[in-house]
Amino acid sequence: MTKKVTNKDTKIVNAGRKAEFSNGVVNPAVVRASTVVFNTVKEMNHALVNKNNNTMVYGRRGTTTAFAFSEAMTELEGGAGCALYPSGTAAITNAILSFVKTGDHILMLDSAYEPTRDYCDKILTNFGVQTTYYDPMIGADIETLIQPNTRIIFLESPGSITMEVQDVPAIAEVAHQHGCIVMLDNTWAAGINFNPFDYGVDISIQAATKYIVGHSDVMLGTATATAEHWPQLRDNSYLMGQCTSPDDLYLALRGIRTIGVRLRQHQQSALKVAHWLSQRKEVETILHPAFESCPGHEFFKRDFSGSNGLFSFVLNKGNKAAITALLDGMSHFKMGYSWGGFESLILANSNVQSIRTVTTWPYQYSLIRLHIGLEDVDDLIEDLTKGFERFNEVLAHY
Ligand SMILES: Cc1ncc(COP(=O)(O)O)c(C=O)c1O
Repeated sequence: MTKKVTNKDTKIVNAGRKAEFSNGVVNPAVVRASTVVFNTVKEMNHALVNKNNNTMVYGRRGTTTAFAFSEAMTELEGGAGCALYPSGTAAITNAILSFVKTGDHILMLDSAYEPTRDYCDKILTNFGVQTTYYDPMIGADIETLIQPNTRIIFLESPGSITMEVQDVPAIAEVAHQHGCIVMLDNTWAAGINFNPFDYGVDISIQAATKYIVGHSDVMLGTATATAEHWPQLRDNSYLMGQCTSPDDLYLALRGIRTIGVRLRQHQQSALKVAHWLSQRKEVETILHPAFESCPGHEFFKRDFSGSNGLFSFVLNKGNKAAITALLDGMSHFKMGYSWGGFESLILANSNVQSIRTVTTWPYQYSLIRLHIGLEDVDDLIEDLTKGFERFNEVLAHY
């Protein structure tokens, strides 16, 4: 296992920047196309049969802009190839659907991104594919849940909102002994801070919408696969009509070039805010993978090379009015259902248990999720300080 990829920053600058994609300039060109034209039958047939050689055939299969981004992602994450989707959710749903059939069973972590759960419960069930949820901290005991028809074990590490870091290699080892495919939502690590294929992952999925794009202006998904699984993932995703806009891919390629420095700054500021929060009297616990209080912290230390701007904390008191007062008056933290851009975001969740079915959420009061952006960190701490003042003022009147 390689925890740290040497020279990752150099890779970030060079990934996918082949002369054939860029025509001599620094960045690959935006090539828009539905129709690709050929002059000879030989050329046309050659393009059609060669699925992996970056030959343009028809717009849905991608143009050189898509090939450049896809190659860049494969270089960053590893694996044999990367399929592109119009959102992270599309990447998750299509990757799963590419490998299941009626009668199959999948194992899904209890702390999965909520739409991933909904897809299992509301769509896969209609096709006769059953889902069993598992405790994200289960490790090698996942074996007890594997059935003869279990096809996929799906991981997301850290888990959405509650941030549990999973023992990926322990789960992957057992999965492979039983012939199951290991899929990981690797969005938090952004293809930078965790190397999925070194830990037994077969398909690594990202909402590139987040840190890859990095500027809150594009929806995009990726699924990168091992050589064994790449042909089926690629072919089935094509069959399901998955394709992406070259303009969006251009922005994603631009995002990649600065992801190393952005992540380091997000990490530094988020750690400062998290340490400051850990001293606040209103805070019950910090759910940041770099903190001992976060479930799976030991796996974070073992397997990850860094963190980023996204973490949660839990309050030790409060009510709806107090939390509303905290959230409503923020200057820098805006409320938004996303993360990974340059800006700070805040979200409250007072009913985590409603999105869990096999684990018990141990805390009484609201969870707050923060995305720490690239603003001056002291401005962010001041914003939170004032937020706690409003919070306490409301509580004082109850
Ligand atoms: C961990 C994780 N996975 C997947 C997604 C879905 O990505 P998208 O919004 O691009 O569909 C999100 C979005 O918030 C996410 O946080």
